Amino acid sequence: MNLIMKMLAVPATVLALWAVSAQAATNDDIAKRLEPVGQVCVQGKECKGMEVAASAGGGGGAKTPDEVIAKHCNACHGTGLLGAPKIGDAAAWGERAKKEGGVDGLLAKAISGINAMPPKGTCADCADAELKGAIQKMSGLK
Ligand code: HEC
Repeated sequence: MNLIMKMLAVPATVLALWAVSAQAATNDDIAKRLEPVGQVCVQGKECKGMEVAASAGGGGGAKTPDEVIAKHCNACHGTGLLGAPKIGDAAAWGERAKKEGGVDGLLAKAISGINAMPPKGTCADCADAELKGAIQKMSGLK
């Protein structure tokens, strides 16, 4: 009886350890997927789905739509995380625009935040025009 218990206990421990490390790998994967493109894309290299912003930001000038999207919006809108309308999914964005009364309506929601979407999409220092540019770029709306 004792021996059998030992024989059962060892694989159980191994299994538990395996489960823990498998979980860690999954968390790593999730973290990687959530990484903003801005950290992954290197200036001068092709980035899937969007052009790389020419400047590295800072310097006080207006942020380009690509900069705002890469740094702030892509984390959720790149993959549709939490139900976010995906970048380039014109149908999903169009439907929302119709409901909110156009791009300016979407902008108002983006500023205030909506459900799982944080105010200003986490770009606290984004001007309205910069957010609007990002929305237009992601949605293809004018
Ligand atoms: C933390 C995740 C997250 C980030 C970061 C994020 N969004 Fe969103 N966004 C969402 C989700 C989720 C929705 C859908 C909310 C809903 O309708 O329930 C959404 C919806 C929107 C909408 C549609 C609002 C409406 O009225 O239907 C706009 C516009 C928008 N986001 C703009 C942006 C912009 C611009 C950025 C970057 C500056 C950004 N988002 C960053 C999660 C995010």
